[in-house]
Amino acid sequence: MKRILVTGGLGYIGSHTVVVLQEAGFDVVIIDDLSNASISVLDNISTITGKKPSFYEIDLKDKSKVDAFFETEKIDGIIHFAAFKAVGESVEKPLAYYRNNIVGLLNVLDAMQQYQLDHFIFSSSCTVYGQADQMPINEDTPLKRAESPYGKTKAMGEEIISDFTKASNKNAIALRYFNPVGSHKSSLLGDIPNGIPNNLLPYITQTASGLRKQLAVFGNDYETRDGTAIRDYIDVNDLANAHLLALQFLLEKRNQDRLEYFNLGSGTGSTVLEIIKAFEQANDLKLPYTISNRREGDIQEAFADYSKAKNKLNWQPSTSLEVSMKTAWEFEKKLKLNE
Ligand code: WQD
Repeated sequence: MKRILVTGGLGYIGSHTVVVLQEAGFDVVIIDDLSNASISVLDNISTITGKKPSFYEIDLKDKSKVDAFFETEKIDGIIHFAAFKAVGESVEKPLAYYRNNIVGLLNVLDAMQQYQLDHFIFSSSCTVYGQADQMPINEDTPLKRAESPYGKTKAMGEEIISDFTKASNKNAIALRYFNPVGSHKSSLLGDIPNGIPNNLLPYITQTASGLRKQLAVFGNDYETRDGTAIRDYIDVNDLANAHLLALQFLLEKRNQDRLEYFNLGSGTGSTVLEIIKAFEQANDLKLPYTISNRREGDIQEAFADYSKAKNKLNWQPSTSLEVSMKTAWEFEKKLKLNE
């Protein structure tokens, strides 16, 4: 049985991916520093799959701990989610973001070299495209300088992995997520923001639950069909499935390049007001919101062309926006109940 390391495996996308890997018959070991996840997620994963992943609380910046891990654990593949991911926070604390996201990555890549490991999947982001000149965005779309230190760590991470895999003849994939939304159908896994949510969906669900007074829509003066910004909202369960397919792609040596990039999105753009409406209709409620100024650093429009993932990974999104809005709300209600 192949043993897969999932760093950041107690996080939002990581935990959904662990479930999919276990259900596909992989043995999973998780490293997480619990800086942005709760240990209770480990039990929730076990409740869903009936299998408890091995777990190590390790800060990947601690090279001695990372090396000690690889001394004892034989790993057949690595999915690397562990990183700080709040765009706004990264602007306030750039050094913390560079140190955590880059040093953590370097320590894992060093270990791959030292312990002859292969098959690396990197959690990247559509933010590396900045405001692309044309839609939809495909993997050949030129990258633009990311606006935030967070986005720069993703772009730098891809460069580091590209150079490393060429020098070491190893094989890797960078998965560029668009905007992850939704929760697991069991409502045991979902997006649990640290403090005030940065992202749209958790802010919407917390507003619907009464935790937040109202949603501020960041700007309605964009050149879009209703003036609010467009993003590509992709269900987290579809994202998790993409990681399984990417892993199998590498294990079966189907990659042509040392590092292959894949955009993971629904292929559809939705405005903020359309998301609000979709959430209201899916859950039969009214969401209080107000229009405020644009958020610094936001782009106007981004949505994916996922045909490369479709053709090479045999992946495609299958969860409707309506279902994502329902599962997001069910998870929020369950969270509130457990408070
Ligand atoms: C979506 C839209 C906001 C909150 C970032 C990262 C990306 C990924 C997801 C980590 C935008 C609007 C938001 C609010 C609003 N990173 N909005 N009111 O900025 O597209 O992407 O998060 O997982 O890498 O770049 O996502 O959810 O913050 O914003 O109007 O309270 O919702 O302006 O148009 P974003 P987001």
